[in-house]
Amino acid sequence: MTYENILLEQPEAGIYLLTLNRPKALNALSPATVKDIDAAIGVVENDADARVLLLTGAGEKAFAAGADIVAMQHMSAIAGKDFAASTMRTFRRLELLSVPVIALVNGYALGGGCELAMSCDFILASDKAVFGQPEVNLGVSPGFGGSQRLPRLVGRAMALELLCTGRQVKADEAVQIGLANHVYPAAELLVQGMDMARLIAGKAPQAVRLSKELVQRGQDLDLDNACTLESEVFGLTFSTEDKAEGMAAFLERRPAVFKNR
Ligand code: CAA
Repeated sequence: MTYENILLEQPEAGIYLLTLNRPKALNALSPATVKDIDAAIGVVENDADARVLLLTGAGEKAFAAGADIVAMQHMSAIAGKDFAASTMRTFRRLELLSVPVIALVNGYALGGGCELAMSCDFILASDKAVFGQPEVNLGVSPGFGGSQRLPRLVGRAMALELLCTGRQVKADEAVQIGLANHVYPAAELLVQGMDMARLIAGKAPQAVRLSKELVQRGQDLDLDNACTLESEVFGLTFSTEDKAEGMAAFLERRPAVFKNR
């Protein structure tokens, strides 16, 4: 499949790398770019051997500097609502993708770019990363989930400060407030992302997928139902060959060889 606005590569077996590829527009998310992301999610979703998806931006400056302001300038209210709704569906698909999705934020992640990063399972940032929700500078409110995911990640008070002021947050502060997990020198970000992807890819695949699903599905349930879901899924893993292998390998003091069965 060929894409106009992204690149989708498989640098190693099981590891996908999606690169937003409109560096001249700081990888701004146009409707066509979102369609490309959606198609790429479908490719990963349909690959039973997929283990991890990494997502980053082309060029030195940006992960994504937001929804495409050129595309939005003359949109009608209905077109604006449709753009937000369809992008929201794509971002939710990313969040519910069976394998972990890691954002490698290499520069500006503003507005829709920050919302895209927050739809990934976690964020690794370069020391050049800058996060923010500057929609209030443009006379709009967030449209791709920022008002919902930012408070869930950083708490209501900090989210409200960032949403209402449009203040930009550099990488170190992003880690401090719980938006990003780690910061790396810019030149090391992809290497560190690949190391993290390899680490995950070496674990029991079904256990990784189910762990993600438990967090994503469980966080909106009440504690009793969420814990019941966890115990049922835990039981389900006992039916896998990889559970037998993982426990046998531990007791025999050898590395486990997982087969995704
Ligand atoms: N949409 C379209 N084009 C964009 C863009 C965007 N969000 N952000 C940057 N660009 C374009 C610029 O127009 C410029 O294009 P030209 O070279 O053709 O003039 C090019 O990318 C480079 O940008 P700058 O010259 O502005 O680069 P800079 O280094 O001086 O500034 C920046 C970088 C601070 C990120 C600045 O570009 C900026 O503030 N961008 C807009 C950020 C923003 O407001 N994002 C939120 C969008 S609204 C949104 O996302 C709503 C939502 O929740 C769905």
